[in-house]
Amino acid sequence: MTASELKSTYLSFFKSKGHAIIKSASLLPENDPTVLFTTAGMHPLVPYLMGEKHPMGNRLADVQKCIRTQDIDDVGDNSHTTFFEMLGNWSLGDYFKEDAIRFSHEFLTSKEWLGIDPKKLAVTVFAGDADAPFDDEAKRVWLSLGIPEHKIAPLPKSDNWWGPAGLTGPCGPDTEMFYWLGDGYPPESSNPGNDKKNWMEIWNDVFMQYNKNADGTFTPLAQKNVDTGLGVERVACLLQGKKSVYDTELFQPIIREIERLSGASYSDTSKQTSFRVIADHLRAATFILGDDRGLTPSNVDAGYILRRYIRRSVRHGRLLGINEPFCQVIASCIIDIMQMDWPELLAHKAFILDELNKEEERFSNTLAQGLKEFEKLVNGLEIAFQKSGKRITVISGKNAFKLYDTYGFPLEMTEELAKERGLTVDTAEFKTAYEKHQELSRQGADAKFKGGLIDHSEETTRLHTATHLLHKALKIVLGDHANQKGSNITAERLRFDFTHGAKMSEDEVKRVEQIVNEQIARGLDVVMQEMSFDEAKAANATGLFESKYGERVKVFTIGDFSKEICGGPHVKNTRELVGFKIQKEESSSAGVRRIRAVLTPAAPK
Ligand code: ALA
Repeated sequence: MTASELKSTYLSFFKSKGHAIIKSASLLPENDPTVLFTTAGMHPLVPYLMGEKHPMGNRLADVQKCIRTQDIDDVGDNSHTTFFEMLGNWSLGDYFKEDAIRFSHEFLTSKEWLGIDPKKLAVTVFAGDADAPFDDEAKRVWLSLGIPEHKIAPLPKSDNWWGPAGLTGPCGPDTEMFYWLGDGYPPESSNPGNDKKNWMEIWNDVFMQYNKNADGTFTPLAQKNVDTGLGVERVACLLQGKKSVYDTELFQPIIREIERLSGASYSDTSKQTSFRVIADHLRAATFILGDDRGLTPSNVDAGYILRRYIRRSVRHGRLLGINEPFCQVIASCIIDIMQMDWPELLAHKAFILDELNKEEERFSNTLAQGLKEFEKLVNGLEIAFQKSGKRITVISGKNAFKLYDTYGFPLEMTEELAKERGLTVDTAEFKTAYEKHQELSRQGADAKFKGGLIDHSEETTRLHTATHLLHKALKIVLGDHANQKGSNITAERLRFDFTHGAKMSEDEVKRVEQIVNEQIARGLDVVMQEMSFDEAKAANATGLFESKYGERVKVFTIGDFSKEICGGPHVKNTRELVGFKIQKEESSSAGVRRIRAVLTPAAPK
């Protein structure tokens, strides 16, 4: 069965069980500041898992595009990819453990569906701890379906608990299904708890019955949900009897293309990692660029990850001996493979190829020189060792920053190069150098460092403050129900989603604009205070993503006008905003309106 057939079979199965099929959400989450990419199918569904009504009902299924940047270091093994397609089914307060497990079991093993031999399956269940008890119910359901006791491994939270997707939110114990990778049948004693490397996880049924709070405690959710995730690449791999996801039709044409361009052979095991890195990273880059948002490589946030994917691919291309531009050729091949299921790739093909090419060109110009510079650094360490007899195995942060700043080496690439030589990089010193350079606050950079570098440019800072003024002005004009549902800021404009049942009248738009401009003209000071979440609530601070913050929060007070929990950055005085203009008011989704606004160079007359 091909991956494409697997996807449609899955959706047919869940349709037959009363599920509505919903569309994949964007790879770039709009309304969540805590993550850069959609990491699971549940991610866009968080409001519904928290109790909001979904317009399509309470049984849903889909195929979701996902990226897990944290898996980047595992790319190269048989089963990890950073971009993947996730099949998911959800119950929003409808069926729970018993039916969820029965559905999974039937889909996997019934001859009518995937027909996987149950003797090659094993499962894990949550073992229980101080936060939540042992999941006896899940175990009993598996036993009733004929999975023997020794193939049911109880494991702790680190294995059998999923969520929240951000810092807080819906989560719960899960039961995971694994497929035997070894030859023949697994020995009786082997299960994913005691023999991890021989079992590949394929499906995760999460029982979302808790909310994780900002203080780290768990409270039961009023609505008990099911959230499942099945990896397309992995299940296609096992159905085709392959040993690696890279051996399926999703990757083989890409690998053949890399062989053709490089003259290297994929069967040369010393080169396999480079083949897989290029295939995976350019797939991720193609999907990010093809995601309707027009995101391009940059030094911040998701744009930085995109840059890393492309630059790392280029470097691995060189390792395989490809010295000509090649990203476009590989991306065309990826688009050919995926366009039937993801037509947006074809729609954005010209943009994808153009952006890939531009980034590859930008980097090609400095890569060779940067590599020379890196060699000099390694030689310098060797010479110092010969002189002093003391071996230094750390590349200084200052030097890593020079590679970043002058030659465009993402920090992670320098770390990878260093690792290949048995060296490490002083990343703390790199951060200091970076912050000094950008005049960033340490806190700001730390907060998002792992996922990219936060944008603290003057333009975005001013728009962050404008967003708070807008939020309050909307509440004054429309009523207190006008709650923020999401916001997105670029250097040019702000976009703000809020709850309101009707189109705003022209007069309402004007009044909101006027109130914001009045607050700008009043020259209100913006003051930040850190406090506990409870103190912030007691002080009546507005907080959209309140459940996602850590225990200590920052509250930004704008004169006597607004008080809001926020990560910042903000200006010191509203006068810095000069003038504010709403460009568009439109519908975002049912009951949610969207405003696009800009700051103007002069105050309105
Ligand atoms: N959200 C769950 C996962 O990603 C299903 O594993």
